[in-house]
Amino acid sequence: MDILQIEGLGKQFLLYEQNKQIRSCQDISFTLHEGEFIGIVGLSGAGKSTILKCIHRTYLPSAGKIVYDSKAFGPVDLAAAGERQILFLRKHEIGYVSQFLSVMPRTTAKEHVMGALLEMGEDGEKARAAAEEMLSYFRLPEELWDVYPSTFSGGERLRLNLAHTMVKHPRLMLLDEPTASLDNKTKVLVKDMLKRLKSRNTSMIGIFHDLEFMDGVCDRVFNISEGGFVG
Ligand SMILES: Nc1ncnc2c1ncn2[C@@H]1O[C@H](COP(=O)(O)OP(=O)(O)OP(=O)(O)O)[C@@H](O)[C@H]1O
Ligand SMILES: [Mg+2]
Repeated sequence: MDILQIEGLGKQFLLYEQNKQIRSCQDISFTLHEGEFIGIVGLSGAGKSTILKCIHRTYLPSAGKIVYDSKAFGPVDLAAAGERQILFLRKHEIGYVSQFLSVMPRTTAKEHVMGALLEMGEDGEKARAAAEEMLSYFRLPEELWDVYPSTFSGGERLRLNLAHTMVKHPRLMLLDEPTASLDNKTKVLVKDMLKRLKSRNTSMIGIFHDLEFMDGVCDRVFNISEGGFVG
């Protein structure tokens, strides 16, 4: 079964001040099967992050369809769905790990991870326990749990991001270079967690600079610069 069907996706930006049009990605089509992991590779600036942002609807696509087979609503075109439906799906079904962490001001690391479960309606104590387990898993030192993440290092932010998204066990997970600033030991933790989620049938699309590292997790590789699957 397909969980996501992307057809003719395109995004362009109009920079009004410079009166310029920037074509970010165009005519992207592929299908993600349920429980599958697709890796996206391609040149810098080719539009890889843009694809994930269009699926997460951080960006509104300029062309094409992104049909997601949701648990709550059945098939939904994410390129055209209303804001409320998108917010619901982000809360309950679609997780996104961006390379850059943005958190609410005056929210501690632990509150940030707990918040992901609380907004899904999880009970406070269970949310606390699950958040602590995730933070420990990603080896975020306990002394940082009650600190505001604005002072965290790049790798600490990324690990917090991973904990925040993965604690939800989303049905569809979008990962934008989730191992970029991590040491090898931590990369292995990320890979193991992805394997664990995959064994629970989570469907994933990930952008990785070092895709060899994802050997054994990644099922197919889509090269955006060449417009198709590799191999
Ligand atoms: N919000 C935006 N406004 C204007 N242009 C944008 C915006 N977001 C992306 N772009 C442009 O779209 C193109 C693709 O960007 P994108 O971030 O998707 O590339 P990428 O393949 O992820 O690159 P990298 O490997 O360097 O992360 C770039 O030329 C970028 O400048
Ligand atoms: Mg990118």
